This record gives sequence, C-alpha cells and structure tokens, in this order.
Amino acid sequence: MMPVAGGGRSILHRVEARSTRRGGRRGRAAVGPHGVGGGIFITLEGPDGAGKSSQADRLAARLRAEGHVVMQVREPGGTPLAEAVRALVNGPADHDPWSSALLFNAARAQLVRRVIGPALARGEVVVGDRHTDSTLAYQGYGSGLDLDELRRLDQFAVGDVGPDLTILLDLPVDVGLARRAEGAASGHTRWEDPTQHDHRFHERVRHGYLALAAAEPERWRVVDADRAPDVIGAEVGDLVVAWLAGRGSAAARGEPAAAAVRITR
Ligand code: TMP
Repeated sequence: MMPVAGGGRSILHRVEARSTRRGGRRGRAAVGPHGVGGGIFITLEGPDGAGKSSQADRLAARLRAEGHVVMQVREPGGTPLAEAVRALVNGPADHDPWSSALLFNAARAQLVRRVIGPALARGEVVVGDRHTDSTLAYQGYGSGLDLDELRRLDQFAVGDVGPDLTILLDLPVDVGLARRAEGAASGHTRWEDPTQHDHRFHERVRHGYLALAAAEPERWRVVDADRAPDVIGAEVGDLVVAWLAGRGSAAARGEPAAAAVRITR
C-alpha cells in the first residue's frame, strides 16, 4: 500500500474533527459510506494464531463487494517506516516491554498520520489488522505495563483517532500457538519464542483482550475463532455489514449509532 502524503498535525486535527473517539466520546462520528463526513475505522484483534490477517483480507473483500471504498492496513506496518519498525519489534533481540511499547507507538503514529487519518478524512472504511488494543493486551496485560500509562502514550502518538468497531477473534492459547507452530518457520517471531513469551504470557494476553471487550461492549464484538476460516469469515462479514447498516440508519435519523449485532460468544 502506498503511504498517503500529507502534513502530520494538520491532517490529524482534521481527522479528529471527523472520526469517532474512544471511550466517552464514541458515537460522534459522521458516517462515511452511508452518510456525510468521515470514514469508519474497523479493527481486528486477537492473540497469536487467531487468523486475523486472513480474516482482514476476507473482510476487506466483502466490504468492497458491498460497494465500500476500503483501506486495509496492518500494525505494526503499512508505511516504509512502520514496516522497518515491524522488522525491529519482531526480531530476535531482547526488548524491554517499554521499548516495545514505544516502537509500536512510533509505527502507529506514522500509520495514523500518513495513511489511516487521510483515508478516514476521505470517507473510506479502514480495516486494521491490530491497533492500540494490541499494545494494551500484549504490553499491558501480557508484560504488566500500566494500562493508563499506555493509554497516555497512545494519546500522545495518535491523538483521539481510534476504532469505531473492533472484532476480537478469540481462541484458546494452545490452539493459537499450535496453529503458529504449524506455519512456516520463517513466519515465526520472538512472540512465539517460549523463552521470551511463555504460555502464561499468552494466557494473560487472551484474558486482557476479553477484559477490554467486556469493558467496552458497544465497540467490541467477540467472535469464536476456533472454527473453520470460512465460517468465521462469513460471521465477521455479516456482523460488520449489519453494524454499518445500523450505523447508517441511526445517522440518517440524527441519532448516535446503536449496537446492531449480536455478540457471538
Ligand atoms: P502479527 O502477528 O499480528 O503480525 O503481530 C506481530 C506481533 O506483535 C504479535 O505477536 C503481537 C505483537 N504486538 C504487540 O505486542 N503490541 C502491539 O501494539 C502490536 C501492534 C503487536
């Protein structure tokens, strides 16, 4: 994907005026594909081996087939600088968790200011494979860093830009790690190295994700990812399409968007 050129602060500030906010400010966004104003930011989250990347591909294809203009991104990555950071954070070197948190946020700042922000300002649907919730789950719940400090760091890096809807692909740790072990060894990173991240780390990450989802149920949908990819893909596609439709009709009535889909576990 080509990075979108543009000045950092001015673009971010424009996006802030248009995009949905985290926490108490959710629901202020204008609706892109179904109405006026800014775009929609949808993220996929989950532990290692949950199948996010292939589900992100499926979701982007489904939304394009429905007529949406979709920008697909992944974190860390999505710009030359952020891809270089990805190689660093996934590399074998020892990292203090704060170093990881800062690197992930450096990559995120670049991606949000150069790619996600401009796409939202154009009214597109952005499908993100991981975002800030990964830092909260991995560096917060997994490595024990303070969640409020991580949220402040995120605020510093990307301002109020955050997802409108987040799909958690949840599955047992053993299943996820077994899937990763079956994959090509060249795809393995230090995150699957048990000397750096043991089973308990991955259990804390999973628990962290479920806690984040429970704390903000209007933004999160939890999907059982211990099933066939086609079945998961159809469910994710259906729930996102229904959510977008519900959001569009709420905006047309001048109301904040209500949760329009079932929680699937
Ligand atoms: P991926 O496997 O989804 O490509 O992500 C690479 C690894 O980076 C994965 O194990 C999760 C980890 N990660 C964090 O620890 N914190 C973050 O903020 C992000 C974006 C990823």
